[in-house]
Amino acid sequence: MSARRAEPYRIKMVEPIAVTTREYRRQAIREAGYNTFLLRSKDVYIDLLTDSGTSAMSDNQWAGMMLGDEAYAGSRNFFALEQAVQDIYGYPYVVPTHQGRGAEHLISQILIRPGDYIPGNMYFTTTRAHQERAGGTFVDVVIPEAHDPANPHPFKGNVDLAKLQELIDRVGPERIPYLSLAVTVNMAGGQPVSLENMRATYELCKRYGIRVICDATRCAENAYFIKEREPGQAGRSCREILKEMMSYTDGCTMSGKKDALVNIGGFLATREFEVYQKATQLVVLFEGMPSYGGLAGRDMEAMARGIYEMVDDEYLSWRILQVRYLGEQLLQAGVPIVQPVGGHAVFLDARAFLPHVEQATYPAQALAAALYLDSGVRGMERGNVSAGRKPDGSEYFPRLEMVRLTIPRRVYTDRHMDVVADSVISLYRRREEIQGLRMTYEPPTLRFFTARFEPLGGMLSQA
Ligand code: F0G
Repeated sequence: MSARRAEPYRIKMVEPIAVTTREYRRQAIREAGYNTFLLRSKDVYIDLLTDSGTSAMSDNQWAGMMLGDEAYAGSRNFFALEQAVQDIYGYPYVVPTHQGRGAEHLISQILIRPGDYIPGNMYFTTTRAHQERAGGTFVDVVIPEAHDPANPHPFKGNVDLAKLQELIDRVGPERIPYLSLAVTVNMAGGQPVSLENMRATYELCKRYGIRVICDATRCAENAYFIKEREPGQAGRSCREILKEMMSYTDGCTMSGKKDALVNIGGFLATREFEVYQKATQLVVLFEGMPSYGGLAGRDMEAMARGIYEMVDDEYLSWRILQVRYLGEQLLQAGVPIVQPVGGHAVFLDARAFLPHVEQATYPAQALAAALYLDSGVRGMERGNVSAGRKPDGSEYFPRLEMVRLTIPRRVYTDRHMDVVADSVISLYRRREEIQGLRMTYEPPTLRFFTARFEPLGGMLSQA
């Protein structure tokens, strides 16, 4: 057997992608206001904007789509989904939602009262927005290593128990309805949480009657890192590890569009009947009946099947190693990236990449635009633009100013990764040619989706 790896799949259907000229891309990125979210997909060669909803489904999932039971109530696909969540996560109660943020909306409205605090291991955009909308205040309790792109800590997503304790002492446990625990932590670079930390966090929370609600969006990838890095875990299956992880939580929100390998779908799951009952009341207002939650029967079937596929050890190993394969090529060329390489993406450290560009002129946004111009590769800004503004109107200026190259699951080959690496490395060698941007349009919330910019000089402004 060769020591080299290859995809544990063969290709049954192909989708052509656009190879464009530099002139064409210059025009396209200008029209998009230098915001990669506003590019048209048809103009993108390798699309690393997100791993969300961009997975390739398996033949088994597509076969399941044909078994959609589109009954308004009691669809058999709902019961398949419920069974999958019970088997793989171990929660008894499940409410489907159209995607992860639908579940975030439900749990935030059910558990948060105005004036509450919600500690979390780093924020995620929609999660924090829903917590704030319900009147809560998000408090970051991730370990400090998570905010340092070069720190090699193996579990950079861990909760800082001292910070959590400090918050409990300061505001009182009755002001903390739950701790929001993301596995893996997207904004830190797809960094995992250890089993030991999950257990300790759960124990601390239980002592004060505080729930742990997991953001399980990339939980299977987290399980792989535990198998790979945590002492004593190498001999277990990811499926077994995941079940134990979830045993240290009271419920979860899940975006099925990531680890569960579907193009749309999500759910809220809980161990508490009362929370479940409230969710069934709310979901009918915002998503649909509790047995479909905004999804077609066929979507629920695809997600049910994807949940079993996501914990396959062979798949997970290939998945994580493909992301790492891209990251290691960049590291070898000296390109500053977040280390260790995370589960779903390689994050370029835009401040270290472009030290001459001030954070107020959005270095990560400029780098993402330059990458598209260079090769048609689309990444996503995850820095000052994504962080938005504080309630007082000032910018957050987060320590992490990054371009995320997010790898869709089962979609691209390692050859695509080579092309991406070549483009990033060539830009790094010409980095002085990249200048910052000025924002010309800013919407009031989640501004990164639709903000528009103008180049302040350099390669982006050349005709
Ligand atoms: N939680 C995390 C950690 C996420 O990464 C996302 C989505 C959500 C919740 C919300 O789920 O999109 O199904 O409503 N992340 C996508 C991304 C959008 O590109 O990282 P959703």
